[in-house]
Amino acid sequence: MIKDKNIILGVCGGIAAYKSVELLRLMKKAGADVKVVMTSSALEFVGELTFKVLSENHVCTGLFNSGDSSVRHIEWASRADAALIAPATANMIGKMARGIADDALSTMMMAVKAPVMICPSMNTYMYENRALQRNLDILEQDGVIILEPGSGELACKTSGAGRLPEPELIFDRLVKLFHPCDMKGKKVIVTAGPTREAMDPVRYISNHSSGKMGYAVAEAAEKRGAMVTLITGPVSIAPPFGVELIKVTTAHEMANAVLSSMDDADIIIKVAAVADYRPLAPRENKIKKDQMDSRNNSLTLDLVENPDILKMVGERKRNQFLAGFAAETENLIANALAKIKKKNLDMIAANIVGREDSGFEADTNKITLLSKDGSSKELPLLSKQQAAHELLDHILGKIKHQVLAR
Ligand SMILES: Cc1cc2nc3c(=O)[nH]c(=O)nc-3n(C[C@H](O)[C@H](O)[C@H](O)COP(=O)(O)O)c2cc1C
Repeated sequence: MIKDKNIILGVCGGIAAYKSVELLRLMKKAGADVKVVMTSSALEFVGELTFKVLSENHVCTGLFNSGDSSVRHIEWASRADAALIAPATANMIGKMARGIADDALSTMMMAVKAPVMICPSMNTYMYENRALQRNLDILEQDGVIILEPGSGELACKTSGAGRLPEPELIFDRLVKLFHPCDMKGKKVIVTAGPTREAMDPVRYISNHSSGKMGYAVAEAAEKRGAMVTLITGPVSIAPPFGVELIKVTTAHEMANAVLSSMDDADIIIKVAAVADYRPLAPRENKIKKDQMDSRNNSLTLDLVENPDILKMVGERKRNQFLAGFAAETENLIANALAKIKKKNLDMIAANIVGREDSGFEADTNKITLLSKDGSSKELPLLSKQQAAHELLDHILGKIKHQVLAR
């Protein structure tokens, strides 16, 4: 989303200025054109050269030392698609709130029309200071996006609020600025990953779901402004920022989590690959080899059906949009359409599994979106992130249509 975007990165004189280097690296890796502006205090903490080399741009360190006739603070400000100040010192926050323009960064910020995000970072007592909090309120009213500092041990050896969030989180929130806010106010539940059903204390039955598709859907919805609850089976990928995470292991736990949080949801998207069966009686102790049937070296495991969560949600939903996923190895469309009817779904995303570039574990997916009104849309092979956004576009379109039809 930030490829080729013009971003101003303001760096102020705080201990956390070193983290801005990593932040710049993330922005450059994503293809942004980053213009760094450093205050004279920032130069006491980190060198200009590092930012110059990594940004592949001139670094602005003062109003009057550009060495040419350009009016850089206006030129950069007017070309910016977003401006980010990390770390933002108490001093800079005060200047921005009160309209003081006495150095390159504060002057440039007066001229920026694009969205501005600041990341306050300072000692806890400074952060709690009433003047600072007043200034943050003013900036918030002015439409500046404020990323709250984290809590923990600070460089000054005190502990509390004031820590600059990690560069990955700052970068993620910056990227969010470039997404449409078309899901603001919507509550979305997404399920993801596999479930695990115990055979004994050390073994379980599960499937190959990596959680990548469900996590991509949750992330896309959060980036578009939704309040997202992600109910996830055990996976090895990091959860998206900004979502409420509920971790479960078994199908029963997933059913309980979904049913207890679904009533106030607007949209429920069930991407999880829930185990259809579980061992009837998981053993208390580890199954030993000598417990096998010695006649043919086999072990018989009785399985019992798990709750059909999608069906239960379909029966219970009121005026809510329910989307399911169908992972099939054959008769994809026919099976998916049957599932829509049987489980009272509004739509289904059908994907063929067992291909290297689609389904479980792959980074890409090939899905067909089928709706209860009979319409269908076959998507090309897409990254799971792109597929997630297509899915959300489709859902929003259907919801709008339903509202208009009412
Ligand atoms: C070692 C040291 C660390 C500092 N760390 C911070 C900090 O984390 N946050 C902050 O707001 N000010 C911090 N300051 C104070 C600022 O550097 C000072 O207020 C300065 O005027 C800020 O200038 P600037 O806003 O132009 O960058 C620190 C000062 C020193 C000497």
